[in-house]
Amino acid sequence: MAFILGIETSCDETAAALLDAKNGALVEEINLSQEHHLWGGVVPEVAARAHASILPRILRKLFATRKVEDIEAVAVTMGPGLMGGLWVGAMSGKGIALALGLEARFYGINHLEAHALSPRIETKTTCPLCPFPYLMLLVSGGHTELMVVRGVGDYHVLGRSLDDAAGEAFDKTGRLLGLSYPCGAALEQLAARGCAENIAPLPAPLKGDESCNFSFSGLKTAMARLIDAEQHPLSDDKKCDYAAALQQVMVEVIADRVQQGVRRAQKETPNLKALAVAGGVAANHALRARLEAIAQEHDLPFIAPAPALCVDNAVMVAWVAHEYRRAGIEASPVLAGLDFTPRPRWYLG
Ligand code: KG4
Ligand code: ZN
Repeated sequence: MAFILGIETSCDETAAALLDAKNGALVEEINLSQEHHLWGGVVPEVAARAHASILPRILRKLFATRKVEDIEAVAVTMGPGLMGGLWVGAMSGKGIALALGLEARFYGINHLEAHALSPRIETKTTCPLCPFPYLMLLVSGGHTELMVVRGVGDYHVLGRSLDDAAGEAFDKTGRLLGLSYPCGAALEQLAARGCAENIAPLPAPLKGDESCNFSFSGLKTAMARLIDAEQHPLSDDKKCDYAAALQQVMVEVIADRVQQGVRRAQKETPNLKALAVAGGVAANHALRARLEAIAQEHDLPFIAPAPALCVDNAVMVAWVAHEYRRAGIEASPVLAGLDFTPRPRWYLG
């Protein structure tokens, strides 16, 4: 069987995956989340060193029972992300492509494009393939973007965060509440036992704004001021109330921005086919429920990839190469060949 090899090392996930080059079906993936909770966040140098030691082991394992010569295309995340990690993935992928004579089939992948196409990945565990064009909300620890995915390589960004990413608001507030990084899932659990009304009203940045942009840093600062003014240590009940208050306002603000996005997208793209979501924050149940309701209100299907495909992974990276090949584009027009180097900042659209 011929494979597409995907490699992801842009942040704190070291991952590689093999897809069947014929139909994009998943053959095997190995994903390792690095432990950064001791530092309260991802330390770039620590992450890069970890990628350098973990990635070769993952690749060796993937090819323990397969032939490297069966790789037909190599897809590597080239940005945006942390430079050290990007170099590790880039040079490993380029080395393999060079050794196998696959220079023309080396795909430097934009990580945001990988998230953006993830609702289309055809695996047994996900919903049916999401048809173009669709509105995509990408909410992770590093990115917050709202875009219309019109086709392969055709992305119209409607808005993005002007400061922090959505996940950062959960992570930074979570840290103030004594949770360990990444805090989103634990904060959601606290929120389920808390009451947002017990906390002073929080700002809802850009709510009602004409643009489709997001802003979360003012909210984070407001939370920090309120928590600072409390008697410490905080009681468990207080922690739950703060978690509930943050989650409530986050859902409210994101939902408002998505409503605005749907309105704009339906005006500009009357044949809009779905509302899709990806990124770690998309695991939040309250947010998912709200987005599902918005989709229903606008008569759109709501499509969310399985949680393992929502967070950073290498399957989505290899999938982009599959989409390009299926669309008849042998190598990405921008990134053909091995001369391309990582781009820590790389916007879509
Ligand atoms: O996509 P992801 O795994 O990694 C990147 O940042 O690219 O997203 C991780 C982010 C973290 O900020 C984490 O706190 C957040 O997703 N997160 C959540 C939940 N689960 C993960 N945020 C809110 N609610 C959750 N249940
Ligand atoms: Zn990501």
